[in-house]
Amino acid sequence: MKEMLEKIKAEATARLAETSADLEAIRIQYLGKKGELTAVLRGMGKLSAEERPIIGGLANEVREYIESKIEEKSAELKNAALSAKLASETVDVTMPVSPCRVGSRHPLSQVQTELEDIFIGLGFEIVEGPEVEYDYYNFQALNIPENHPARDTQDTFYITDKILLRSQTSPVQIHAMEKKKPPIRIISPGRVYRSDAVDATHSPLFHQLEGLVVDKGITMGDLKGTLELFAKKMFGDDTRIRFRPHHFPFTEPSAEVDVSCFVCGGKGCSLCKGEGWIEILGAGMVHPNVLSGCGIDPEVYSGFAFGLGIERIVMRKYNIDDMRLLYENDVRFLKQFN
Ligand code: PHE
Repeated sequence: MKEMLEKIKAEATARLAETSADLEAIRIQYLGKKGELTAVLRGMGKLSAEERPIIGGLANEVREYIESKIEEKSAELKNAALSAKLASETVDVTMPVSPCRVGSRHPLSQVQTELEDIFIGLGFEIVEGPEVEYDYYNFQALNIPENHPARDTQDTFYITDKILLRSQTSPVQIHAMEKKKPPIRIISPGRVYRSDAVDATHSPLFHQLEGLVVDKGITMGDLKGTLELFAKKMFGDDTRIRFRPHHFPFTEPSAEVDVSCFVCGGKGCSLCKGEGWIEILGAGMVHPNVLSGCGIDPEVYSGFAFGLGIERIVMRKYNIDDMRLLYENDVRFLKQFN
């Protein structure tokens, strides 16, 4: 019996040394219920009382030995598998990578952000308004009654009799004054729509930025000071502004505002078409009818508003002569604004 145990030990050791996989089969073969070592232990009943503890002890030793060998082998196999996996998955960090092309923000977005930053710095708050708007907000509440000729100058996309795509960001003034009582100091950038044919200076979709300030004692001087500061920050410290009388139904008095040409400084060049001035926005003092329509007493409060075309500023700033370039998304064009 002792020889048999020695033989089992030797055989098991040899098999474990050779195998590269099925350790479980080996365990069952020797240590399982019907295994070889178990069979030996079963025969122990035939032994004499003196032999039994000796063989028993030996059998336990062999079992423990085989178990530990199996464990050892199992760890060895796992390590080998891990090393093989690591070797096969090695990344060559010295290999050149294929360049990853990073896009950039659209010039319209860049300029919009720039405008927002300037006005935030002046204490304005950004608000948004709907692009699909009621006739009431786009026209009526802005002192443009039905049949008013001003409705013809802004060819509007109507959805129903009462609902339209806003033709200007000015309706956000009304939303702002309905929601909040003075002091109000907001800007509102966004898309506007007019049924214009596409050409170098027109698009049925374009962008405006509206500004509105309402408080006690707001004057035209505040409007001028604000726009002058804005113009200097946007186009450089040497920039001057000029107010030309104009008419908007929702402001009185109203003005169109020019900045001194930032290419020639006012001498006249191809960008300003020899004028020395470039028109950038419409502005004025909020009409009393508009204030009272929003429940704000024009005897107590006054305000100014302005609206500028973002495309126009982008085109002037980068000397772009065709508006369509801004919407065609030709990468060769967009790349230049990285
Ligand atoms: N909404 C006017 C436009 O689209 C611009 C404007 C805004 C004028 C605010 C005065 C005050 O032409």
